[in-house]
Formats: sequence, structure tokens, C-alpha cells
Amino acid sequence: MPTRTDHRPHTVSLHTVPLRHVLGGLRAGGPLGLMERTGRQSQGALTRLDLGAFRPFLVTHPDHLRHVLRDHAENYRRGTAMWKAMGRLTGLGIAGEGPRWRASRELWCKGLAGGAHAVADGTADSVAGAVAELERRVAAGATVDALTEMTRIVLRVVNPAFFGSRIPQGQCDRLAAAVAVAFDSLLWRMALPFVPLAVPMPGDRAFTRATRTVNDILLPLVRRARAARHRGPDLMSVLLDGVDADGRALGDAQVAQDIVALFVAGSESSALTLTWAWVALAAHPGVAAEVRREADAVLGGGPPRREHARQLVLTRRVLAEVCRLYAMAWAVPRTAAAADVVGGVTVPAGATLVLSPYLTHRLPAFWERPLRFDPDRFTEERVRGRHPLAYLPFGDGPHQCVGQSFFFRQAALVVATMMSRFHVAVPTRAEPRAAVALRPRGRVGLTLIPRG
Ligand code: HEM
Repeated sequence: MPTRTDHRPHTVSLHTVPLRHVLGGLRAGGPLGLMERTGRQSQGALTRLDLGAFRPFLVTHPDHLRHVLRDHAENYRRGTAMWKAMGRLTGLGIAGEGPRWRASRELWCKGLAGGAHAVADGTADSVAGAVAELERRVAAGATVDALTEMTRIVLRVVNPAFFGSRIPQGQCDRLAAAVAVAFDSLLWRMALPFVPLAVPMPGDRAFTRATRTVNDILLPLVRRARAARHRGPDLMSVLLDGVDADGRALGDAQVAQDIVALFVAGSESSALTLTWAWVALAAHPGVAAEVRREADAVLGGGPPRREHARQLVLTRRVLAEVCRLYAMAWAVPRTAAAADVVGGVTVPAGATLVLSPYLTHRLPAFWERPLRFDPDRFTEERVRGRHPLAYLPFGDGPHQCVGQSFFFRQAALVVATMMSRFHVAVPTRAEPRAAVALRPRGRVGLTLIPRG
């Protein structure tokens, strides 16, 4: 097992992947195949991908990540096409930069802290209700779509906690589906950032249709919520009363965009990671049996309670390991504002850097047998012995995820409750594919047999 003292600063020269190899890699295995191949060859060295007009740097070594995300974070901004494309969906508040982002992050943290209290009280009940509903609806032994069901469960937790249950459940489901389509249809715009918006690209029409659906659902809801004047501890209440960087009240459109951002940042990511958790557990029956034993011991055959989330120690380690192997944010882009030197390599002003937690989590210098699923990597002792930037599924630095603890609390209760009610099987193999987020290729089925 490598120890922290092994990690000398990394100062190798620039590794470059020429265009013909990039194209060959893309043809052979798509964007994820190309990344995996490049990661294996570069082993943490700063690498430049030659995509013709677009030549991003791939950053995976934990020392370089610390440089970019922590020590010189002010120089590495979200000016890239991905964030611009995302801004069309979520506005330039929380997904942006500078004073507007800062004001927005403050509101979000306040809203999430308020929501978190509601979550602490309500999550366990929401999870119990959602799993009981699944038991009623699904015939014994039936196979359901994992992502659809995990999204349903996550939304039943998020709606009361963050929206004060103002979004009727049916609309919440429609909204989540439209947001997922809009988000995914941005892939081409992100992959080919130099193409102007005026030039049509695949995904554009789906994006326009989906954003129209989102606005048709959300704007009337936001207007009604503002008029109703009722405020609670939830994020939506904080946004309705919130002010932007200029001290002006947030308009209805910005509140609606922030809500979309919450769907993108909070619900999709949680539902996808839960889906990967079932895939990993099905492939590792020994670990699944231990997780079931923990669920039985902690829940005692009854419904989940708020204090159980903390007691599900192994389940949380399993989730941490799922986040390592299936890092939902597989690529996180930044732009260098000024020229800089990273690990001995000069990075020019305006260059795009693609940080890849997915590849960092597979570096053999930091992870022994990196492809092996091993939740024990997350015992306190082993976490302490590791480079702090070797694990970053939730990012790091000023933009680090604000929903990490919410995710673990909610997801641990979902896994334990499902395990205590069902034998869960995943009948077919599931492989990841790199869309904007890391998604399963095709449908992941979950066969649910009630435990009785
Ligand atoms: C498995 C679940 C999740 C994963 C893997 C994840 C991952 C991430 C990552 C990698 C970032 C950093 C992006 C960057 O550096 O530019 C991020 C930021 C963010 N996440 Fe999460 N996230 C998850 C769940 C959540 C949840 C549940 C919420 C809300 C309740 C949330 C809200 C946010 C927000 C608001 C930001 C932007 C923070 C900022 O820019 O200041 N996330 N997340």
C-alpha cells in the first residue's frame, strides 16, 4: 500500500497525445476509452490531448490537482465551454464564477443547512415511504429500471427538504426527466467548444425542447410560491427571499434556474451513484451480504430512523468506494486565466485543463489494485494515510460540492432500507459511458424479490 511519504511532487515533462492517437482512441472506446487509455499511458503526468483546434491539458496527479484546485484556484476558472453550456441551463449563479457565484453559493449553503435540518428529520420517513411504495407497486421478482427508481426515491427526499414540497410529485418527476435530457444533450457543445452557438449541433433541438418543458413547469410554480408568501427552512424559500451580488432580489427566472441547478447537481448525481451502487453490490455478493447484515442489525427489521444514517458505517464505505470507481463527475474542466507552471510544465493563458477524478482514482501509485472494488479503502486509518487529493469525487477547493454529506446520509438510508426489504439482483452487466456525467451504457435492471 503506498503511503503519503511516497508522494514526491510530480515534475515530469509534458506528455502529448497526437491527434491520430486521439482519433484512434475515440474510435476504439469512445471518450471514456480514450481517457482510460491516456490515463494508463501518462500515469499522472500532465498530458496534452491534440484535438486539432482544441488542445486541453489532462490533469490527474494529486499534486497538480492541489495546485489547480486549492493553491492557485483563483487562476483556474470555470470559463470553459462546458460551464457556458451548463449556464444556459442553470444560469450563471451557482454554476458560474466571481461575485455572482459567491452570492449564490452563500444562499445555497444557507438553504442547504436549513434544508438539512428538515432532511435530518424527514429523510428517513421519505425513504421509508418511497421504498414502501416500490414494494406495493412492483410485483415480486419483477425487474425495474434502476435509474428511474433511484431518481424517484431521491426526488421524494429532495422535494420536501429543498422545495418545501411545493412541486407536486408528478411534476417533480417530469421536471427531473426534462432536466436530464437537457443536461445530456449538452455533450456535443462541451466536446467541441469552439463551435459557435449559431452553428447547429446534435443535441440542440433536444436541449431547446427540454428547457421549454422545464420553464413551462417551473416558472408558474415559482410565481405562485412567491405570491403565497409562505416561507420555510428549505432552499427554495431562501432563494425566493435571496439577493444577488448587487443586493437585488433574485428574479423568478434566476430562482427557476437555481432549482434546475439543484436537479442537475443534487438529484441526477445521487440517483446515478445509487444506480452504480447496485451494480457494484451485485458484482460483489460477499460485500452485499455484509451490507445486508449491517442493514438488519441497524434497522432491526423496522423503518429507517434519522440516527441510523451515522450507524451504517460499512454502507457508507461502500458508497465512498462506488464514488471512487464510478466518479459521476468524471471530467471537471477549468480555464487558466494567466500563464502558469504546473508540475514543471508551462500552461499558457486561456488553456483548458480537464481534471479527471475518474483517472486520478485509478492511479496505481495512490490506489493499490485500483480496479478492485474494496470498501475497506475507506477505513479512517487508510484515508489518513492517503494523499488528500487522491480522492475527489466531490471536487475540492472553493467550488467543492456543498451536497456531499447530504448525499451520504440519504444514500446510506436508501441502500439499507432497500436491502432490508428486498433481495436485489442486477441481471445484466452494466458498463459506464461518458456523457456529461458518467452514466450506464443502456438500461440497468434491478430484480426485486421481497424478503418477506
Ligand atoms: C454523488 C453525489 C454527488 C457528486 C458525485 C457531486 C459532485 C460534485 C463535484 C465534482 C462538484 C465540483 C464541481 C467543480 O469543481 O466545478 C460539485 C459541486 C457542487 N455540488 Fe455536488 N455532487 C453530488 C451531490 C450533490 C448534492 C446532493 C447537492 C445538493 C444538494 C450538490 C450540490 C452541488 C453544488 C451546488 C455544487 C457547486 C458548488 C460551487 O461551485 O460552489 N451536489 N459536486
